[in-house]
Formats: sequence, C-alpha cells, structure tokens
Amino acid sequence: MSKVLITGAAGFIGSQLAYRLWKAGEQLVLIDNFSYGKQDNLEFPDHSFADEVIRMDIRDRKGVESLFANGDIDYVYNIAGIAPLPDCQTDPQEAIDVNVTGTVNLLENARKYGIKKFILASTNAMYENETVFPTKENSFALPTLIYPNTKYTAERFCESYCRTYGMNVTCLRFSNVYGPHVDCLRKQPPFVAYMVRELYYDRTPIFHSDGNQRRDYIYVDDLIRLAILVRDSEGFDCVNVSSNKNYSVNEMYAIASRIMGKNIAADYADDAHYWEKYPALYSGKYPIKTQILTHEINKYSLCDNSYAKEKYGWEPEVDMEEGLKRLIEAECRLLDSLGSNADKNS
Ligand SMILES: NC(=O)c1ccc[n+]([C@@H]2O[C@H](COP(=O)([O-])OP(=O)(O)OC[C@H]3O[C@@H](n4cnc5c(N)ncnc54)[C@H](O)[C@@H]3O)[C@@H](O)[C@H]2O)c1
Repeated sequence: MSKVLITGAAGFIGSQLAYRLWKAGEQLVLIDNFSYGKQDNLEFPDHSFADEVIRMDIRDRKGVESLFANGDIDYVYNIAGIAPLPDCQTDPQEAIDVNVTGTVNLLENARKYGIKKFILASTNAMYENETVFPTKENSFALPTLIYPNTKYTAERFCESYCRTYGMNVTCLRFSNVYGPHVDCLRKQPPFVAYMVRELYYDRTPIFHSDGNQRRDYIYVDDLIRLAILVRDSEGFDCVNVSSNKNYSVNEMYAIASRIMGKNIAADYADDAHYWEKYPALYSGKYPIKTQILTHEINKYSLCDNSYAKEKYGWEPEVDMEEGLKRLIEAECRLLDSLGSNADKNS
C-alpha cells in the first residue's frame, strides 16, 4: 500500500483525487488551507474526509516538514494552488508565493525525505500565446499573464530538482477541467460552473465576446486516471491532459441547456468588462490593457494528447455530453441543498 500526500485536498480536483485513491485503498495525507477549498467537497456518499484533511498551508515550512518526517510518503500530488486568473493578477505576490514558493517547499522536503514521485498540477494556460494547434508539450510561446507564469516557473523548479538530484517529477498540464465539485460559487467561477448555475436559477448568463471562442476540456475522472498512471515514470516530464477536442462557449451552453431542459438566450458583453469584478485591475497608473482581456477571452485552445496516449496508454473516456450530465447533476444537488444562501455571488 502506498502513502500519498495530496495538497489542495478540499478543492475540486484534489478532493476527487483523494476519493479515487481512498477507494483504491491507499493511505492518504491530505492538506488544504481552505482559502478556496470547501467542506462540501469532502463529503462523498460512502466516505467523509472532513476529519482527515489537515488545515495547513503548503508554505508552512515546519508543518510541511513534519508531514514528511513523520512518515514514509511515497508520492506527492501538489494540487494546491491559486488558479483563478484575475485573483493572480490582483495579488501577484500571493500567487507567486503559493504556486511557486509553496511548490519549492514541497520539493525540498520530497528531496530530503526521498519520495518516489512528485506530481505537479500544471496548466495549459501557459500556451496562451501559442499559435500552433493542437499544441504539443515541447515548444511553445511563453505566457504573459501572472497565473501561467507562476505554473511555468514552478515547472522550472521541478525540472531543476530532477536534474540536480535525480528526482522523478511529472508536471501535468491540465486543459479546462470539469466535473462534480467544480466551484460554482466563487467570485469568478469557471465558465462551465457559471453557465450551469445561471441556468439553475433561470437567469440570463452573460458571456463575453461572441461565444464562438473555443477551449479544450478534460473530465476530472479522465485526468485522475492519468495522474495515477504517471506515477511510475522516471526523470522529468511534462504531459498535456486534454481530450484533444474543443468546444465553443455557445456549443457548451446549448448542450447544458438541452440537458437541463432550459431555453434562455444568453447576453453577450464587451471584452473590456471581463474582469470588472476586480476593479483594482482597472485602476492605477497602468490599468490592464483591453487587448490582454480580448486575447484571454478569445483565446483558442487545443492541446495535443498523443504523448499521454503513447507513453501511458491513456485515453479520455468521458465525452462532453456525459461529463456535463454528471457535473449538472452534482451542481444542482449542491445548489438545492444550499437553498437561498447559494445565491450570494450572483
Ligand atoms: N480546474 C482547472 O480547470 C485547472 C486547469 C489547469 C490547472 N489547474 C490546477 O489544478 C489545481 C487544482 O485546481 P482546482 O480547480 O481543483 O482548484 P481549487 O481552487 O478548487 O483547488 C485548489 C485548492 O488548493 C487550496 N490551496 C490554495 N492555496 C493553498 C495553500 N497555500 N496551501 C494549501 N492549500 C492551498 C485551496 O484551498 C483549494 O482547496 C490548481 O493548482 C490549478 O492551478 C486547474
């Protein structure tokens, strides 16, 4: 039986990963600082992780070291991170501190205490300036925004630890991940969670630009299967985790509307208002450029997943229709259970 440390265990992906590994009988050490994580994510029909998640920050040097010193950790999944782009833009120091310094704190302990494998939750957002599609892992234009730069930098430190000490690290570059537990209540929810929430409340969703922008997605269970398969590979590696299929905002909205039996026409807003819930980005001597917002909203993404298929024999199994059904079921159940409180961010 392996012992596995998962950071960010109360978040969307971390909680689902914890559940899969618990089902497989693995011994888990779970941490989260609950900056974004939620207790709801820790409840599964046949198990609760509520009393198992240690409230700890990945930057806590003493605390994190004590987890490694106490015990024979085989694998680390560093899933914790600050993911919302406008949060990273608004507080870059915090984003760098968590996504980069926090990762290095874990890497250093992984080195000192000799774990078998370190897996980093990285992102395809670092391909934001790439123009070759489907995008492969090995060569791409470097990113501009803070969030992808933090993940790109974290990857470089992973690489440094591999080259310097012979450690084994895989950086998984997730495409847009969707599935149960995706957070529909945060200030700027991921698009999929937002559109389902608006449909649930019979409200008109507001999409920026014309809704024809296309992104590629990966269902959370497919991601987790790959995250388990990469454990045995050696050295340093970066792997796209993508379905290799992309969908426009309008296509996704049509599928979700059909599944939910709703017929509400969306409104479309100007690109310049995309991050208007974050007024700090629009103020100061150098406010955010509209071209940056336009580029981010209209960004086309399609990642090549052939490397994951060839090296790990992995195939995505859940298509968009099925994945959205499962997400919708879970999100509606959550909103039902929260009643009127759930509406606070609308
Ligand atoms: N969801 C996606 O589409 C997607 C895509 C690409 C990459 N990623 C990456 O995958 C990871 C998980 O994403 P998610 O969607 O589950 O996000 P999430 O916000 O639901 O989960 C992240 C978790 O990390 C925790 N956390 C944040 N800072 C921490 C700290 N300093 N110490 C301990 N815990 C901390 C949060 O409380 C939260 O529970 C992130 O690193 C994110 O950057 C996500």
